Amino acid sequence: MSAPRVLVLAGSLRRASLNKRLAKFAAKQVEEAGLSATYLDLKDYPLPVYDGDDEAEHGVPENARSLRQAFIDHEGLILVCPEYNGSISGALKNVIDWISRPDGDVPMTAAFRDLTALLLAASPGGLGGLRGLVHVRAILGGVGTLVLPGQHAVSKAHEVLGEDGSFSDERGAKAVSELVGTLVTTLRRLHA
Ligand code: FNR
Repeated sequence: MSAPRVLVLAGSLRRASLNKRLAKFAAKQVEEAGLSATYLDLKDYPLPVYDGDDEAEHGVPENARSLRQAFIDHEGLILVCPEYNGSISGALKNVIDWISRPDGDVPMTAAFRDLTALLLAASPGGLGGLRGLVHVRAILGGVGTLVLPGQHAVSKAHEVLGEDGSFSDERGAKAVSELVGTLVTTLRRLHA
């Protein structure tokens, strides 16, 4: 069996997203741990807000199909989640909703089963987006993804995360690096 691969994405569309910065840092950690990482920007896959009438008329949008295929093509997922009002961002929930729709021969669980996920968050606030991760964990668990128990939320993220994916807080960087290490070890065990 070929080596497992890790999809890394942030649940923000914003160009200057702090969560995208953390996603880039995490993707580098995956590569340093010896697996290949695919960094994906949701801004490159614009989607309408899910509407059952739209789906009935036009089917699942091409961008949702492409995103679903990216999930299917990877064994690992690092999801870096902005916290909006104590919960998941609308953009991320919308993606999960679209790619969980049954589509021809593709069942609703296709994108999420056989996937092992690590959750991270970044926020300028003091809790780093930790409250939102509770909800993301429940949603992903509900669609069949194995979500690792460890997670990390970067508080005051605007002070420590650089646009190039640098992370100037040594303790935070070490925590994320160790969690990525756990993800890589778990994936190697599951997909040996
Ligand atoms: C926020 N923000 C925010 N931050 C936080 O720590 N807890 C929260 O509940 C919220 N709620 C919230 C709601 C809405 C609608 C917005 C737009 C923002 C602030 C948020 O963490 C900040 O804008 C981040 O920079 C967003 O993530 P990206 O885009 O930088 O990745």
